[in-house]
Amino acid sequence: MKENIKILAIETSCDETAAAVIGVANDQPIILSNIISSQIDLHAKTGGVVPEVASRAHMEAILPVVAEALLTSTTQDSNNTVEYQTAIELLNKEITHVAVTAGPGLIGSLLVGFNAAKTLAYAKSLPIVPINHIEGHLYSAFLDESGKGRDITFPILALTVSGGHTSLTLVADHGEYKVIGETLDDAVGEAYDKVAKMLGLGYPGGPIISKLASQFRALKGIVNIIFPRPIINDGSLNFSFSGLKTAVLIQVKKILAENNFESVDQIDQSVQEEIAYAFEEAVADVLVAKMKKAIEKHLPRSVVFAGGVSANGYLRQRLKQAVSKIDERIVFLAPHRTLSGDNAAMIGVAAYYHIKNDQINKWNEIQVDSNLELS
Ligand code: KG4
Ligand code: ZN
Repeated sequence: MKENIKILAIETSCDETAAAVIGVANDQPIILSNIISSQIDLHAKTGGVVPEVASRAHMEAILPVVAEALLTSTTQDSNNTVEYQTAIELLNKEITHVAVTAGPGLIGSLLVGFNAAKTLAYAKSLPIVPINHIEGHLYSAFLDESGKGRDITFPILALTVSGGHTSLTLVADHGEYKVIGETLDDAVGEAYDKVAKMLGLGYPGGPIISKLASQFRALKGIVNIIFPRPIINDGSLNFSFSGLKTAVLIQVKKILAENNFESVDQIDQSVQEEIAYAFEEAVADVLVAKMKKAIEKHLPRSVVFAGGVSANGYLRQRLKQAVSKIDERIVFLAPHRTLSGDNAAMIGVAAYYHIKNDQINKWNEIQVDSNLELS
């Protein structure tokens, strides 16, 4: 008999095929399973995500990933002593809701998870909850390091920074969003990825560039390169990173010309480290400045830093310091590092709050939208 809420969540908006099961314990959501099949190795070959390649890989992974999420969900659930033979049996007996990312993202990728979720909801007559990917990232901060739900005091200022998005959102309560700033061009993660590509380094660029930057920071060397901080003082809460990206490209070309290098592979690691450092400092200064402005204007009680880029320890530290300097009572939170990148647990947790507010749909009432806005 199905008593508690138990959500099967699916996320395929970009290059991770992910499924998770979210249950409830002590009136809080809890991760019962969280499976991610990453396509990083596939996209490393091309130095970025090729949409057609991504959707084909999702097609191959989706059913095994969903089955594994269902099967592994029982081992962590202490109330559940039943051993299920198959994932379908478990779906029949335990799952009460299906949740799925409805956008934004790559349309070919989104459609794979979206149609898998719709099909399951239709076949099993389950309610379905469409979730905005950015909302999911925000909700990753509602989980602690052990995968249990935690309360965050509203109003929340959310700085969501990923490969595809950079935005500031004011969250008055569960489901009440107002986007107060966003990027006018590139996302921060995209800029990290492009800078790594310009230097002939791998994909994804974020962890590589941030490692090089920390190496330079630790040496406390003399800084010769300074990159621009685009629209840092324009009075708005918007961001722009394409000018910064171009400044890095100009610098790389200058180094090649001055040294008669034929390829970026000839650039010294110490120079790569300095470029990475100068780039990351520019990103950090812009994020801190815009976040500070948003806090002063909107007086949130909590600040959440989420999205793939929030795995970055230096950016976390700079933002956290800035928040406590403004007002020590404001709580700064970022998701556990295992939940900062794309995953389905965050989609399931966001769906839990939709379900509590009776925001559920039938399989034929929902739509996928690659440009879905948070509202
Ligand atoms: O949220 P996410 O997994 O996917 C999107 O929704 O886009 O974010 C992926 C992005 C990539 O651009 C990756 O380079 C970046 O997050 N990233 C980082 C770090 N780890 C991942 N950026 C900076 N520092 C990191 N440590
Ligand atoms: Zn994401």
